Amino acid sequence: DTYLRQPWRMVHDIPMVSAFAHNWERGDAFQSRPEDIVVVTFPKSGTTWVSEIVDMILKGGNPEKCKQDIISNRVPMLEFAAHGKMPAGTEQLEAMASPRIIKTHIPAHILPKSFWENRCKMIYVGRNAKDVAVSFYHFDLMNKLHPHPGTWAQYLEEFMAGRVAYGSWYNHVKDYWERRKDHPILYLFYEDLKEDLRREVTKVAQFLGQELPEAALDAITRHTSFEAMRDNPTTNYTMVPSHLLDHGVSPFMRKGAVGDWKNHFTVAQSERFDQDYAQKMSGTDLHFRTQM
Ligand code: PPS
Repeated sequence: DTYLRQPWRMVHDIPMVSAFAHNWERGDAFQSRPEDIVVVTFPKSGTTWVSEIVDMILKGGNPEKCKQDIISNRVPMLEFAAHGKMPAGTEQLEAMASPRIIKTHIPAHILPKSFWENRCKMIYVGRNAKDVAVSFYHFDLMNKLHPHPGTWAQYLEEFMAGRVAYGSWYNHVKDYWERRKDHPILYLFYEDLKEDLRREVTKVAQFLGQELPEAALDAITRHTSFEAMRDNPTTNYTMVPSHLLDHGVSPFMRKGAVGDWKNHFTVAQSERFDQDYAQKMSGTDLHFRTQM
């Protein structure tokens, strides 16, 4: 398989998974529809979680409807390139009825223009940088479409320098934060979802203009707990063949926790990270909760 463990390929100024970069032009020309709902994140920030929440909301809180297909068919990833039996995200989306839910990690400045022009609703999910780095490291170990991340110490340097898929975490979170001032973007935080899932589910339903009975909100909250999604074959990615995702190395639904970074960062790494973070995030009013 020509794309396995290939180095990043640059798209504009952003390192991309080689297979996805190959498909870039089709994604770039993608035609959105005004009723599209875009779930956009830096990788490993709660994309799958919020995708499942949104699909459950559109399906009135009925888990049986969601369980009829895997998440990557219900919420296709825009930049996903055709792979073996798996079709490209753009192909899946073109064949889909509205309202479509679209997953993407594409940074704001190179997101296909059509989404901005059509004023499509976007739900952004941010997660604190240290937990993202840890989650991404494990994902790079198990995801054969990514270059091998090396040691944790090596990987952390790459993450800080933005030499990981989709580039700089810092720019990603800041750019969408700014865009929300003149575009309908609901900006969520992984830590808030962990703190009070029911509250955040309600927020998403309101943003989408969906009035749901209490029982439906309860069902969505139950269905999207970490344990429920970890044990659900339509959300835990175990359906993806092991030559692409090696679940033996690390499961996709790994820990689902806030603060796991403390089990990976040394004190020195944490201090160095914090210093660099303060510089890169200076001047923004975007704040993440890290010390939990
Ligand atoms: S991806 O590949 O970018 O789409 O990954 P993404 O879904 O954004 O992030 C995967 C991490 O999110 C955790 N996750 C959850 N945490 C809590 N509750 C629920 N329901 C949930 N679903 C997914 C998943 O475990 C990954 O985080 P880590 O820290 O690696 O466990």
